[in-house]
Amino acid sequence: MPQLFNAATNSYARGSLMAFASLPVLAILVGMTLSRHSPNTRQNIPLEQPVPFSHKHHTIELGIDCRYCHTSVETAADAGMPSTETCMSCHQHIWTNSPLLDPVRQSYAENKPIVWTQLNKVPEFVYFNHSVHINKGVSCNQCHGAIQDMQIAYKSRTLFMSWCLECHREPEKYMYADPANKELSPREQVFNLYVKYQKDASRHSLSGMEMNLIKGAEQHALSTKEGRELVKARGIKKEQLTDCWICHR
Ligand code: HEC
Ligand code: HEC
Ligand code: HEC
Ligand code: HEC
Ligand code: HEC
Repeated sequence: MPQLFNAATNSYARGSLMAFASLPVLAILVGMTLSRHSPNTRQNIPLEQPVPFSHKHHTIELGIDCRYCHTSVETAADAGMPSTETCMSCHQHIWTNSPLLDPVRQSYAENKPIVWTQLNKVPEFVYFNHSVHINKGVSCNQCHGAIQDMQIAYKSRTLFMSWCLECHREPEKYMYADPANKELSPREQVFNLYVKYQKDASRHSLSGMEMNLIKGAEQHALSTKEGRELVKARGIKKEQLTDCWICHR
């Protein structure tokens, strides 16, 4: 009787079995890579909004404070989104004919809020709180990039767990200090994103460091020692910050 299977078949069989067994693993890996690819996390992509609202225009150029529109950022979990009335407090008088503002006027007339496209979101099972971070002196720019320099806003951090943990492990590396004076007054500095620009009539009189501040480029790096002192001075409970229950409660 002729041989039905030659010697090589064995290794084919083994090979294909292994390939088959590794399929789920491969699928998970591909799935993970795809779901974390920027089109899905929508990182760095300005998304369409009902009104082409410019942060750059309203913050750096007009000098409106973040808290004028995101009113609860210091006191609550949510930062809060501006109501149509907030826009109309100015746009009842300014640019009253601009077609770009049609949806704002319509929302006002019909008493229906504008539905903005959401950029940043953590899953339901994650607890996040703005006020805690703001009160310990974490700047908006650490988590949102240089919003004050964006024409159309985009999400600029992944908001992955690993990203949160990077800072929670070593908050001393991410604390903001005013580059001009190393005296650390965290709370006031959080909103000091572009006041220097407003004070100076022209950008040319700004130092490179101040310019970086406006652009939200990484802030004045503290030495490890300064950082540790700062974390202590602010009463940050570093030891607990990586416990699962902090974010999953
Ligand atoms: C005049 C009102 C106004 C001011 C001032 C303002 N914002 Fe906004 N902000 C908006 C509006 C409207 C949106 C929604 C449209 C958009 O995403 O651009 C928004 C969206 C955002 C988002 C994205 C929200 C999401 O969907 O995840 C962030 C982050 C943000 N603002 C941060 C800031 C920061 C930081 C400042 C100060 C530097 C600031 N804003 C100042 C009106 C304002
Ligand atoms: C404190 C006053 C103030 C508030 C509040 C304000 N704006 Fe404005 N906005 C302005 C001014 C001033 C300009 C135009 C200035 C210029 O052209 O130099 C402007 C321009 C605009 C433009 C550009 C219009 C065009 O035709 O180019 C849009 C769109 C706009 N604002 C939307 C909004 C929205 C949406 C809100 C509410 C979330 C808002 N603004 C809140 C003062 C304000
Ligand atoms: C430690 C990181 C961090 C800091 C600092 C931070 N944010 Fe956020 N922000 C987030 C996260 C995470 C979300 C998504 C929250 C969610 O899904 O509930 C968010 C969402 C938002 C939103 C959308 C509305 C909301 O509340 O969900 C706005 C507006 C916003 N942030 C504005 C600001 C402003 C203004 C500042 C500074 C004063 C700031 N953020 C500082 C991480 C941060
Ligand atoms: C740039 C630094 C930084 C980043 C990024 C950051 N955090 Fe924090 N977080 C802090 C600091 C500082 C504290 C304050 C700790 C304290 O008060 O002792 C804190 C505290 C917290 C707390 C404790 C709140 C409480 O009630 O005590 C939670 C929950 C939290 N962060 C969630 C998150 C989540 C979720 C993310 C990511 C989406 C995140 N943080 C990203 C720096 C950061
Ligand atoms: C500083 C906040 C923070 C802490 C601390 C934290 N997580 Fe998370 N976790 C997140 C965020 C944000 C997400 C959602 C984003 C993501 O999936 O990366 C998440 C997602 C998850 C998921 C969903 C699976 C996934 O990767 O999408 C699991 C499981 C999880 N966390 C388990 C844990 C465990 C176990 C611990 C303790 C060792 C822990 N987490 C500590 C913020 C945190």
